[in-house]
Amino acid sequence: MNLSKVKEIYDSPLIESEINLGGWVRAFRANKFIELNDGSTIKNIQCVINDGIIGEDIIKRISVGCSLIITGILVNSIGKGQSFEINVSNIKLLGDSDPEEYPIQPKKHSFEFLREQSHLRIRTSTFSSVMRIRSKLAFSIHDYFNKNGFNYIHTPIITSSDAEGAGEMFKVTTLGKEDLAKKDVDYSDDFFGKKTSLTVSGQLEAETYALGLGNVYTFGPTFRAENSNTSRHASEFWMIEPEMAFYDLNDNMDLAESFVKHILKYILTECEEDLSFLEERLLKEESQKPQNERSNLSLIEKIKFTVNNEFTRVSYTEAFEILKSSNYNKKKKFKYLLDNWGSDLQSEHERFLVEKHFKSPVIIYDYPSKIKAFYMRLNEDDKTVRAMDVLFPGIGEIIGGSQREERLDILKKRMSDMGIDDKELWWYIDLRKYGTVPHSGFGLGFERMVMFCTGMSNIRDVIPYPRTPKNASF
Ligand code: 4AD
Ligand code: MG
Repeated sequence: MNLSKVKEIYDSPLIESEINLGGWVRAFRANKFIELNDGSTIKNIQCVINDGIIGEDIIKRISVGCSLIITGILVNSIGKGQSFEINVSNIKLLGDSDPEEYPIQPKKHSFEFLREQSHLRIRTSTFSSVMRIRSKLAFSIHDYFNKNGFNYIHTPIITSSDAEGAGEMFKVTTLGKEDLAKKDVDYSDDFFGKKTSLTVSGQLEAETYALGLGNVYTFGPTFRAENSNTSRHASEFWMIEPEMAFYDLNDNMDLAESFVKHILKYILTECEEDLSFLEERLLKEESQKPQNERSNLSLIEKIKFTVNNEFTRVSYTEAFEILKSSNYNKKKKFKYLLDNWGSDLQSEHERFLVEKHFKSPVIIYDYPSKIKAFYMRLNEDDKTVRAMDVLFPGIGEIIGGSQREERLDILKKRMSDMGIDDKELWWYIDLRKYGTVPHSGFGLGFERMVMFCTGMSNIRDVIPYPRTPKNASF
């Protein structure tokens, strides 16, 4: 059957034309007015059942959540709230619902409740808006790299290299309980003949491809078994990792900024309706908060601000000095007080810099080598590495990246200092033996970007089926 989409009707309403629509009932009033939604837009379409047109047996079965195919004529509406509506001539009821039991009633539900109904929450306005924006964001990411000559590569999800140092890994094994219980597990009997895990990042493999294809990027799922139960960490999340040959750290920061601005601009033009809806939702939520905790920018203003302003770039050392001499540090308002150069910045420090001090997105670069991964390029000072983190308001770290160490001897020394087995990463070292070049890359946490664009405050609400410690339902 040739079905129209509600979005098409709103985009170009052909009054007096006959239309077939399939969707789910969001509300049903007075046995006459159906609010139908088909997911193509945040808007419902009103379908009016005039007396005697549809049998009582069908009307009795229509309730919130049931699925229908409606045929009717699009007409100008005389009622308030909509400029056109559908004059129903036929209804095919495909799937009944139960008005008493259907969990998604037309009223406000808490996000906690909706997480338990993740299979149905997509039928709410908020989640359908978030997921449409998520989809557009993914498209805009491919669009940016495609337009800029990058090749999209697929790095493995099961990996035997566990040296990235990005966090705890999930083991992949077909060994039985008894084999695994042994003190020295013999992985030669395992499926792959060696110890394997789910990847925490596609970077190391992406580097190998950059040093042959030039500019590449990955966009895939990554897995981290760290037990951090925060609103910004998921155990399974999607990451975009570009890797560029002949790029130094400045080129890397320039690319990160231009990339982020491109995708935000795309969302501003393509997702206006969903953004406005989410902005309204947030304004209502904010109005419940005390005045001094309210954000001074609305959702759309915040995205526009990010697109239109340069990101502030500061070295770790500068950032550290600002933080150390801040009133927050002096008056012990930070949970972790900063004293000695070299300590890692906590999210409270990052948020202070972004939200209180600079009031703009911030890129911190040249971090102490001790707190960063082995592959980051060592600076002349022997103390810092060419790392960079991009920090966003309300989110904290959204991108982490670096210029990579391309010098064989220095890389090997860093690996041995950090206790990383160079035998296992022989192929990574090979890149520095054969045709090494300066190169750089970064990783953008996709869900954190979706959070920023939608104003959702919990990562569990921007991915269809969140995986977090003690939770892998659905
Ligand atoms: O800073 P990370 O750990 O960097 C890497 O994995 C590098 N290999 C990237 C690269 O240079 N190619 O992670 C990158 C980003 C973070 O900035 C954050 O946005 C996101 O991934 N991220 C998470 N998002 C959700 N849940 C988690 N547990 C995350 N851990 C990192
Ligand atoms: Mg990081």
